[in-house]
Amino acid sequence: MSEPATIVIFGASGDLTSRKLIPALFDNFRKKRLPLGTRIVGFARTPMSNDEFRDKMCVSAKEAMGHHCEEGAWSEFASMISYCAGDLSNADDYEKLEKHLADFEGENHGRLYYLAIAPKLYPKAVEQLGAAGMASEDQGWRRVIIEKPFGTDLASAKALNATVHSVFDEQQVYRIDHYLGKETVQNLLVFRFANSIYEPIWNRNYVDHVQITVGETVTVGSRAGYYDKAGVLRDMFQNHMLQVLTLVAMEPPSKFEANALRDEKVKVLNAIRTPAQDLVEDYSIISQYAGYHNEPDVPGDSTTPTYAAVRLDIDNWRWRGVPFYLRSGKGLAKKTTEVQIQFLCPPHMMFDADDDTTVECNRLTLTIQPDEGIHLAFQTKVPDAGMKLKPSIMDFHYSDSYDTGAIPDAYERLLLDAIHGDASLFIRRDEIEMAWQIMDPVIAGWAARGDASIPMYKVGSWGPVEADTFLKREGRKWINDQAPWQHERRKT
Ligand code: BG6
Repeated sequence: MSEPATIVIFGASGDLTSRKLIPALFDNFRKKRLPLGTRIVGFARTPMSNDEFRDKMCVSAKEAMGHHCEEGAWSEFASMISYCAGDLSNADDYEKLEKHLADFEGENHGRLYYLAIAPKLYPKAVEQLGAAGMASEDQGWRRVIIEKPFGTDLASAKALNATVHSVFDEQQVYRIDHYLGKETVQNLLVFRFANSIYEPIWNRNYVDHVQITVGETVTVGSRAGYYDKAGVLRDMFQNHMLQVLTLVAMEPPSKFEANALRDEKVKVLNAIRTPAQDLVEDYSIISQYAGYHNEPDVPGDSTTPTYAAVRLDIDNWRWRGVPFYLRSGKGLAKKTTEVQIQFLCPPHMMFDADDDTTVECNRLTLTIQPDEGIHLAFQTKVPDAGMKLKPSIMDFHYSDSYDTGAIPDAYERLLLDAIHGDASLFIRRDEIEMAWQIMDPVIAGWAARGDASIPMYKVGSWGPVEADTFLKREGRKWINDQAPWQHERRKT
């Protein structure tokens, strides 16, 4: 087990701390995964005593975790938590924080600074930590977790990286993308690289195209303050969707280790053809759900996209000519995150298709959430009916094999990895900059078109008709339902 660690949470009175971080740390504590001597220190402006902070965490953690907080384990866990009130832009308050930490930290005590604060405050917090000598590793390791969004474009991400690296070395920096902490996202690697039969067909010789969908039924709700400036391309594509794409498309790393893994992801990002800003309409669609303007804090003339679909091409030997279609939106018909590998159709169909025959070419669906699973569609012969064909599905549901109640929240895994110094599931500097380099022209291309007319879609639909037209133009269609033929009544 690692040496003792202190997790210092900047922005401790915020939502992320109570909804995600404390519950994740508590679950790790219950599973006895935290190093002995772990301490958690909340740092925020609101004046609070240790007990007040613990009570506040208990109330909100209870909301997030149901009954757990009432168990005896909570009081033991709570005794590890303390609070230090301070302003992260005030140098004196870092001295105060250092004293607070010195009260219980011995020699060789690691420290993880978690920046759960507004992104505009990241540079300030990092600079102050540096000025206070709190990034120095003389007394044990020092690491910093930085939340998304990491910049708003390539230039701002580069500037933030420059500030971060004026204080911390890359091996001290953990840029978080919670998608990488999801069990089923990690399972993409296991599926591809702990099995041998898929690898030979995982390429342009067998795959027609790939679809990656992140559909959300929720609308923007009370988050417009952030969301209206970001829009779906920054909020979902630059980070989560490109991360999923890299795992689907990468070459096998030689080992499951931070740099080996991230080197391969970077190679994929590097091979993505940079989208042309002036041709944005040729390879992407943006849209906004009807009623977006009625959400609190959304300006009446906002043209922020809440839906987008983008085609990306990977110019390498494995994927040349295989388009990757990424789409995501709020207020859609279904909450789902799915990767669809659409295989090529047989080169020649010797069976005569008649009215009762449905032909679907092989398709592999990796459902990341919810109802986590893997599904393979293939053709079967309808019994006792001459030579009629119908697709069938070979299904694997996580819930059939595992207790899905035990699927931990992404933050649980990621926090533990950062404590243990494993950066495999965090984003490296070059990776984050390359991801912006890919998305910047798409964002700028649409921005340059001004507010002309962003198509609308209905909440509860699968997005605008323009998205269907877009894919039809490409000779393909969106896969909204894995097995529509299963709902059809068979003609007899
Ligand atoms: C966040 C985005 O990063 O991811 C949100 O800011 C989005 O807008 C969320 O709703 C989706 O995460 P998940 O885990 O619910 O798929």
